[in-house]
Order: sequence, then structure tokens, then C-alpha cells
Amino acid sequence: MSRRSYWGRDEFDSEMERVFGRCWLFAAHESEIPSPGDYVTRKLGGEDVIVVRDETGDVRILLNSCTHRGNQLCRADMGNSSHFRCSYHGWTFSNKGTLRGVPERKQVFDADFDKSKYNLVGPPNVDVFHGLIFASWDPEAPSLLDELGDMAWYLEAVLDKAGDLQVVGPPARALVRTNWKLGAENFAGDGYHLGTTHKSPIDLGTYLNTEAFPQLDDVSMDAMRGRCIVAGNGHTLRVQHYGLETDEPVFLGYPEERWADIASGLDPRQADLMSRISVLHGNVFPNLSFIDAAALYSGDDTPAVSYVQLRQWQPVDEMHCELIMFALVPRWYDEEQRAHSQRANLRMVGLAGIFDTDDFQNWTSVADMSRGRVSQSTDFVYAGGVGIKPADDVEWPGAVYDVDHSEVNQREMFRRWSELLDDDSICTRTTGKADQC
Ligand code: FES
Ligand code: FE
Repeated sequence: MSRRSYWGRDEFDSEMERVFGRCWLFAAHESEIPSPGDYVTRKLGGEDVIVVRDETGDVRILLNSCTHRGNQLCRADMGNSSHFRCSYHGWTFSNKGTLRGVPERKQVFDADFDKSKYNLVGPPNVDVFHGLIFASWDPEAPSLLDELGDMAWYLEAVLDKAGDLQVVGPPARALVRTNWKLGAENFAGDGYHLGTTHKSPIDLGTYLNTEAFPQLDDVSMDAMRGRCIVAGNGHTLRVQHYGLETDEPVFLGYPEERWADIASGLDPRQADLMSRISVLHGNVFPNLSFIDAAALYSGDDTPAVSYVQLRQWQPVDEMHCELIMFALVPRWYDEEQRAHSQRANLRMVGLAGIFDTDDFQNWTSVADMSRGRVSQSTDFVYAGGVGIKPADDVEWPGAVYDVDHSEVNQREMFRRWSELLDDDSICTRTTGKADQC
């Protein structure tokens, strides 16, 4: 894989047009905007948008740019408002995007000035999957379910396992000095880096915390088993199992009295997948990553709890991305459990967490070492696991590879990426103007 695919300006512009202009992109979680008028401001494929629940309760996504002269309409990260008023000349829009107020309209504009032509625009496709709000700028995009393909089954398993998940606290945000693809491909299935990058937490025993999880007493690191799963359309995930000697589902990090309930809320194959995992992580192509794990670390003030994190790698330019991290907890957790899960999230995979401090050093280093003409002329290696075949004895959707340390998932991500880059028709569809492509 050419390094210019990561660090070239032209390549970045092409992927913004053809990958982010075409795909379904994560915008927000429904629990962030529970009431009419609630909104958050986000990026959607390089465009600033307002994700809002309108007065009738529908979720809408509006371009955060005034139709008069393009000023940013809403400058807050989140809030509640029935209208958005532009700070430049005062045009006012309802939270459905309708232009309602034009100051000095009769003095400034002709009598036939038609307000209805200047409503806010938004992506033509918006849909919600188990609380996750997605949108696509492509009017000809397939349905969200078609786009998710086999990944829908896995996402559902993660999101239904804990019942009704909700985002707790405002998302953490950071500008990271690296290309968005480097983080996404790591979450897509890089089990290979664990033994080196994360050797210190492994050596500290955080992977097998028998004090927190007595069920792990007889388990050794050798019994850990990882699998890589290709779920189509560039979506992939990696699961890591403990080899527990039990036929009963074990949901580490959830109260034991809830295990039977959790299993009964999933189909048997999903329960088989979700029980006994130490960690499951993946990437919904292109840039929504997720991790579901039991806190391997605990302390006097934090018992062993589950945590779920969504994280989005928002491209800024070829050398930078904005990382947004959402902590999710079951709605049925009490206040104390919620606080413990949120703290575990921060400690394990937060911006200053045990794992991410290791990862960020490598990801930013790759960017720094890829600025020169010579370094950019060399290629990255994605040959891990070439030739391996999917297992035929696992009844999970997609292609399941009985191998942990391979690069099969990353190749699927880049297969989809290059497929979209080769499609010349995408830009015309998104903007409707061939001369802008
Ligand atoms: Fe918004 Fe003029 S730019 S009212
Ligand atoms: Fe890592």
C-alpha cells in the first residue's frame, strides 16, 4: 500500500469526495438528543452539521451554514433550541431547517423574494440503527441496513447485549496528529500490535485480573483466542475470547444476576459470541470504531465493570484527524455503576488511558516519519495472513478467520476504500455538479 494513500493531499481530497461523499457516516447517538429541540453539532464527511430533534420528535441533520452568506449558524457543541439565528444578518431558521425570519425583508429584498428557496439543506439519507444515527450525502446510497451488511448482526449483538445503551457525559474530543485511516485500521482488527505496543499493561496483569474476575482463575494467556471477522463493505471486527471451562454464558463486567437476562435478549449465536469475550473491537467503514470489553483493570475505587466506547476518526487533513470518543452505558445501570463504567472507559481507552497513550505515540510517530519525499515513496506492508481461508465451523455471519494476528481485516478495509476511489460517478451524485468533481 503506497504511503501516499495516507499522506498525499490529492489522495485526501479524493477520499473526502468519494469515500466520505458516498458512505453512511455516524452522526450522533439518539440518547444525546432525547427531547424536542435538543441538538449537537458534528462533522459529517468534512461538512459541519447540526443533528437536531425537531419539534415533532424527528431526527434531522442540517448543514450548519447559513443559506445567505454561509456563516456558521450554531456555534455551541450541544444545547436545546427551537430556532437557529445567524449572527451575521440575522436570518432565522426553525429546527426543521425552514427559513422563518429575514430582517428588513421588505426594505432589502424585492416583493417576489421567495423565502422557501433558502431553507437549510441536509444529507438526503438519514437513518437510525439501534440508537446510532447515520447519514449519507449520496442520494443513490443503498439503505443503511444494506450498507451495514453482516456488520448489522455484530453491532446489534454489542448494542443489545447491554439492553438500551445511552451516551454518558459529553464526548471526549482531541485533535490527533495522524491520518484518520491509521486509527480506523487499528480498530478494524490489529491484534498484532498488542504484544509490543501494550506489553506493559499485559505484564502488569491487567489482562488476567483474577482478583476482579474470579472466573479467570484457571485461565492463562495461552488460552486467549482471537478471531478476525470480515463483515463486507469494508466493515471488520476482531474478538478475543477467554477459554472458560463452562457451558453457561458468562458476561464479564455485568452483574452476575443479569447474565441470564442478557443471554435471553440475544439470539443464541449472538449470546455465544458475546459471552466470555474479553474484548471485541471493530470498525464500521469508513471511520466509526467501537470497543466492548470488561474492565481488565480495577482498583479499590472501581470494581470490575463493562464498558462500551464508540469512537470516530474525523478527517481534518491528510496529517490530522479529530478523535471523538463516546462512553456508553446500559440505561439500567444505577448512578454508581454508571460512574464506574465511565471511569473504566477513561482509564482503559480514554485519551489518557492505559492503552491509548501507547497507541497515540505510535500513530503520531508514523505521521511524523512519513513527511519526506523519500519516506513517502516507500510502501506499507499489509501481507499478514495472505492466503488464509475463513473457518467453516463457525456459524457467525461474514467470513470468520480463526487467526488473531493477521492483516486480513485491514486488507478488507482498503479493498473497499480503493473500490470507492475508483468510482467516478460518486462526486457528480453528491453535488449534482460535474464541474466541481
Ligand atoms: Fe447569515 Fe447573512 S450570512 S444572515
Ligand atoms: Fe492499541
